[in-house]
Amino acid sequence: PALSRIYNISDFEYVAKQVIPTNAWVYYNGGSDDEITLRENHYAYGRIYFKPKVLVDVNDVDISTEMLGVKTSGPFYCSGAAQAKLGHEEGELSIARGCGRENIIQMISSAASYPLGDIIDAALKGQKQWFQLYVTENRQASFDTIKYCEEKGIGAIFVTVDTPQLGRREKDLRIRFATDDDEEEEEEEFMSSSELGEKDPIYYKDASLTWKDIDDFKQSTKLPIVLKGVQRVEDVLIAIEHGVDAVVLSNHGGRQLDYSRAPVEVLSELMPVLKEKQLDNKIEVYIDGGIRRGTDVLKALCLGAKGVGLGRPFLYANSAYGEKGVVRAIQLLKEELICDMKLLGANKISDLTPDLLDTKSLHIK
Ligand code: FNR
Repeated sequence: PALSRIYNISDFEYVAKQVIPTNAWVYYNGGSDDEITLRENHYAYGRIYFKPKVLVDVNDVDISTEMLGVKTSGPFYCSGAAQAKLGHEEGELSIARGCGRENIIQMISSAASYPLGDIIDAALKGQKQWFQLYVTENRQASFDTIKYCEEKGIGAIFVTVDTPQLGRREKDLRIRFATDDDEEEEEEEFMSSSELGEKDPIYYKDASLTWKDIDDFKQSTKLPIVLKGVQRVEDVLIAIEHGVDAVVLSNHGGRQLDYSRAPVEVLSELMPVLKEKQLDNKIEVYIDGGIRRGTDVLKALCLGAKGVGLGRPFLYANSAYGEKGVVRAIQLLKEELICDMKLLGANKISDLTPDLLDTKSLHIK
């Protein structure tokens, strides 16, 4: 369908499914084991309701904000995801351009399908990008990459900490046994993620990564060091002790440990603890997983997130329509955000507070 017929973020998923190769669809869409966490990531938002304020002048809604010291046009970013080229020839390059046109931050994956330098070069003048770091046994390579990022104007390093090894994504494994001859060629190019985990250095993660390494990274650079994939309140407290600049509450989009909790649940527990300990100004908290609507974004922000990341929606929008799709996906989210903030009685991001939410059903006993 024409892009003008796309009305929300989930529509892109539907279109992408029709137009991309099966292996790409399975790789993008899938989660680990029984995909319970994949499902919960989104469903958990369905257990939070709003308590909108009436009779507030909402003529001037402003959704712009700042994340890790960078001004951005909206409180969300494109999270780093591997292999954007599987769904669209231009891969991360068109995602970069789309984000640039809408002034939204793009996080570049360590396992992107284009070289880091090319994706940086695809950015518009003044556009900010972040880098997602997978740490391998070759620590020097990590330090070198961080240094390169510094030189190239990257705004922050997101160290992924939920992946001492890849989760079992069975859909990826199954598709390798597809019998259709036509698919054989594609399959050769695309090994399943679990298999790549064994062989390809880009995918190989060092299972011995610890807090000590985080200290080393922190000392090696002036760039903010962010831990991506934190899943418990206690680890956020440890992160603060180590001087980490931010955390992303995330379970890797349900692709790692199944039965990890929905990040929004963890967020709802975390922020009261940080407040009570007067630590809420010590660290920025981000969240990703299952965010598909403006209302999802607002719920996370009301609970105290500084911003939210979206992974699959950018892959789907890019796969289906390239740069234009990325632009439209961002615009749709912004349109929803502005509409929903008016209806909620909030004018700016700092108006979003926990008292605007009913979270009674979030933790079903
Ligand atoms: C990812 N994600 C991811 N994360 C990361 O740190 N490095 C990576 O290379 C990738 N690659 C990747 C590939 C694909 C196909 C997906 C779907 C996800 C995780 C990503 O950054 C983010 O945490 C989740 O995608 C967020 O969940 P949603 O928005 O996809 O539900």
